[in-house]
Amino acid sequence: MEIITLGNELLRRKAEPVSHIDGRYKKIAEEMIGALRAGKGVGLAGPQIGLVERIFVVEIQGDEPRVFINPSIIETSEETVKYEEGCLSVPGVWADVIRPASVRVQAWNEQGRPFTLEADGILARVILHEYDHLEGMLFIDRLSEVKRNRILAKLEKQKRG
Ligand code: NI
Repeated sequence: MEIITLGNELLRRKAEPVSHIDGRYKKIAEEMIGALRAGKGVGLAGPQIGLVERIFVVEIQGDEPRVFINPSIIETSEETVKYEEGCLSVPGVWADVIRPASVRVQAWNEQGRPFTLEADGILARVILHEYDHLEGMLFIDRLSEVKRNRILAKLEKQKRG
């Protein structure tokens, strides 16, 4: 399973809701968790593997993997925190991003079972980052223009070698 990177327009599309959670999604979720582990990441969203559907997986070290299908962000805290983020689709880049400190999310798992989860710390951070992917948004979009341009210039330079 290949992870697509910055520049691929699939990352910029708004993902479609999953219309029916059938057995296919168990397989997709398994493969996504495999790709996540291979990439040593903590979260991976459908668009990052070219599947522009509302699904993402999260695995924080020491915790079980979680699958979120058709997630809704129900509530976010007013309190925000700054935390360093990276993304498997923006390799080699890390930057501090400010986001809500906690989140309440509702979603379905790969078995089609609905759940609600309240999260803070790294888990909240990853959920919000992955949710952004479903909206066609990347973490670098949340940086100041100056910072983002600096990163894009650096990536462009790397590409040229
Ligand atoms: Ni990402």
